Amino acid sequence: MLPFDQSKRNCFQRCICDGDLVIVYERHDNMKAIKVTNGSEFQNRFGVFKHSDWIGKSFGCKVLSNKGGFVYLLAPTPELWTLVLSHRTQILYIADISFVVTYLEIVPGCLVLESGTGSGSLTTSLARAVAPSGHVHTFDFHEQRAALARDDFEKNGMSSLITVSVRDIQGEGFPEEFCGAADSVFLDLPQPWLALPSVARMLKQDGIVCSFSPCIEQVQRSCETLRSNFTDIRTFEILLRTYEIREERLRVDDDSKGSPVGSLPRKRRQSEENYGSTEKPSSIMARPCRETKGHTGYLTFARLECN
Ligand SMILES: C[S@@+](CC[C@H](N)C(=O)[O-])C[C@H]1O[C@@H](n2cnc3c(N)ncnc32)[C@H](O)[C@@H]1O
Repeated sequence: MLPFDQSKRNCFQRCICDGDLVIVYERHDNMKAIKVTNGSEFQNRFGVFKHSDWIGKSFGCKVLSNKGGFVYLLAPTPELWTLVLSHRTQILYIADISFVVTYLEIVPGCLVLESGTGSGSLTTSLARAVAPSGHVHTFDFHEQRAALARDDFEKNGMSSLITVSVRDIQGEGFPEEFCGAADSVFLDLPQPWLALPSVARMLKQDGIVCSFSPCIEQVQRSCETLRSNFTDIRTFEILLRTYEIREERLRVDDDSKGSPVGSLPRKRRQSEENYGSTEKPSSIMARPCRETKGHTGYLTFARLECN
């Protein structure tokens, strides 16, 4: 997951080895994380794929099944991990994650505190952002979730950058050993305002907190508490619109579906048909996806007030 670290096994400028994690990509909505094991096979509707055929190939390569079907073997980046991990809780997705990492100003070497860990979707991206010299300490009060997250970080190669602990952060706050040491803190908790006095003690001067809440009432309550120790309090809702891109044959008489981006104007379409070609022209169409996700939650950021 750390493509820039040439000294580590998990640099992707090398070939796939026995024991590596790869993302087997069929389509953008059909991917699976698989550990490459010499002697094992992967099977899908396109046939049987031998892992031994994958060893020695480059990340990103296309590999064939016994029936001539194919999949791609992608490097397991945090962005793809978010799409393939097993959901034990609600998770953060790329639009929110990228904004959180940027707005929290997380760079290599940072010390980041997080609670709750949940399924570890955000944690994996936080870890990649602080690597190679920083660290993420993540806390969840649910023992089994914490243990499964630890297993996942072993699996995806991020465990040296992440420490998972079991702790009730709303009840006890973050451990005092991190007092004044955190560059940033991220909360995804049902009652984040209970943890905010502890967050204020953990942050370095000028440090930033972010709290993710699905409901605006939680945001309002958090903001009230933030006002006593924090400044520059700002709330964002990240809305992402994805587009479906595909090649389509044009129908000159069909205006009933409206005009997707990329369709040809009626006049031009007709004149192209009049050239006498028996083939209908085709064009690349771009339409907003119907199932685009809307609201995920609100992200509230605030900076610790300097004394
Ligand atoms: C929605 S999940 C977090 C998902 C995570 N952000 C991700 O992207 O995978 C919320 C987590 O907070 C944990 N949690 C709830 N209350 C807590 C508390 N008081 N202290 C610590 N963790 C808590 C839950 O067990 C749950 O795993």
